[in-house]
Amino acid sequence: MKLRLSEKIQQLLNEQLNKELYSAYLYLSFADWYDDYGLRGFANWFVVQASEEKAHAMRIRTYLLDNDVKPVLEPIAAPQKQVSDPANGIELAYEHECFITDSINQIYTESVNEGDYRTKKFLEYYIAEQQEEEITCIDMMDDMKLFGVTPEGLFALDEKYGSRVAASTSAEMPR
Ligand code: FEO
Repeated sequence: MKLRLSEKIQQLLNEQLNKELYSAYLYLSFADWYDDYGLRGFANWFVVQASEEKAHAMRIRTYLLDNDVKPVLEPIAAPQKQVSDPANGIELAYEHECFITDSINQIYTESVNEGDYRTKKFLEYYIAEQQEEEITCIDMMDDMKLFGVTPEGLFALDEKYGSRVAASTSAEMPR
C-alpha cells in the first residue's frame, strides 16, 4: 500500500512532534524556575503551557497514525534556555515560539510544494495557534514592562497568571 504522506513530510512531522514535546519540557523548566523564585502564578501559567505543548504533540501523533505512519519517538533534549529574572522567562518563551512558528511554516511550505493538501489543512490549526501564542507572549512582555517593575505589580500579575487553567483538548484528540 502506498502511504499518503511523503518521506519528507513524515520526517518533518516526526521532528515537529519532538519539538512540541521539547517545548513542554522547556516550559516545565521555566515553571520550576518561577516556582523556586516564589512566583507560583507564573509557574502555574507555564505548567498549563507545558500541557498545551503536549497536546500539540499528541495531535501530530494522531495525524501520523491516522495516515498509517508509526511515530518515531526520538530522545527529548534537556532544556537549553535558563531563565534569569521574571521578565526574562517570558522573553525566552516568545523567542522559542518564533522558532516553532518558523518550523511549522517550513512544513507548511513543503506540504504546498508537494501538493499534500491534507497536511496543509492539518497544519492550519498550528498556524493559527502560533499566532495566538506569539500574541500572548507579546501581551505578557507588555504586562511586565508596565506592571512588573514594582512588587505590587508583580504580585498582581502573579495572581492573574495563577488563574490560567488548561483548555480541554480531549474532544479533539480521539486517541
Ligand atoms: Fe506548540 Fe507553543 O508551540
